[in-house]
Amino acid sequence: LIIVKLGGSVLTDKTKPFTIRYATLMNLISDIRKYINETKNAMIIVLGGGSFGHFIVSKCIEDKGFIDEYCASLTSNVMNELALHISRLFNISGLSTMVFTTHSIFTYDNYELKGDTKIINHYLKQQIVPILYGDVILYKGRFKVLSGDEISWYLASILNADKLIFVTDVDGVYDRHPRYPNARHLPLISLSKDLNKIRIETRGYDVTGGIIGKLKIGLRYHRGFEVLIINGLIKGNLYKALIGEKIKATKVIP
Ligand code: IPE
Repeated sequence: LIIVKLGGSVLTDKTKPFTIRYATLMNLISDIRKYINETKNAMIIVLGGGSFGHFIVSKCIEDKGFIDEYCASLTSNVMNELALHISRLFNISGLSTMVFTTHSIFTYDNYELKGDTKIINHYLKQQIVPILYGDVILYKGRFKVLSGDEISWYLASILNADKLIFVTDVDGVYDRHPRYPNARHLPLISLSKDLNKIRIETRGYDVTGGIIGKLKIGLRYHRGFEVLIINGLIKGNLYKALIGEKIKATKVIP
């Protein structure tokens, strides 16, 4: 089983509300189709919020200070629509994807995230590729953003995935924001040892903490499966990562 998180930074232009990066998305879809056709491996795809989910949530927090029921409804519907749209593009390429309404699969049970993986498993067995997405879910009577990153880590951990790939707009983790010329690329990062080595701020609309957030969540879920952070803007990179060919990326170990 492979979990692929398609980050909001590759799916969308994070600085412009509701903008899909179609050329990139079509390349990613074609890499996934090629890989699944060749291997018949099971895969779950998780979508980030990018300038869809993050934009709406940022606005609500700016206006009201929290996510009220209207904002939750809007965020959830916009993300569901984005997921359906992307799922249809997968269909057109010939793949059997199906969107799972994420807030009806995940809940919090005493502070702990719980997901109904049984239902996902049933569909995986029938060669369906489930698509989930960063969503708004209830947490102690309040709405909270559940990031696609956390969903991905959770599923990889609970379902014993072989590989978890985070597709982003950079070649993995740098010791500082890659726009600085002296930023150093880190090919390997240990969650327990190296988290203090990086200082990165995120661009555009992001309410879930960018790359550091992604790594910190991993502390809770990493069980030793293979984890890669790759650049999805480079054509063919995702396919290479899927088949295990070497590319410039960051490998994340516990
Ligand atoms: C956020 O998901 C989802 C919402 C804001 C509703 P992510 O945090 O995984 O999204 P990206 O990949 O950073 O855009």
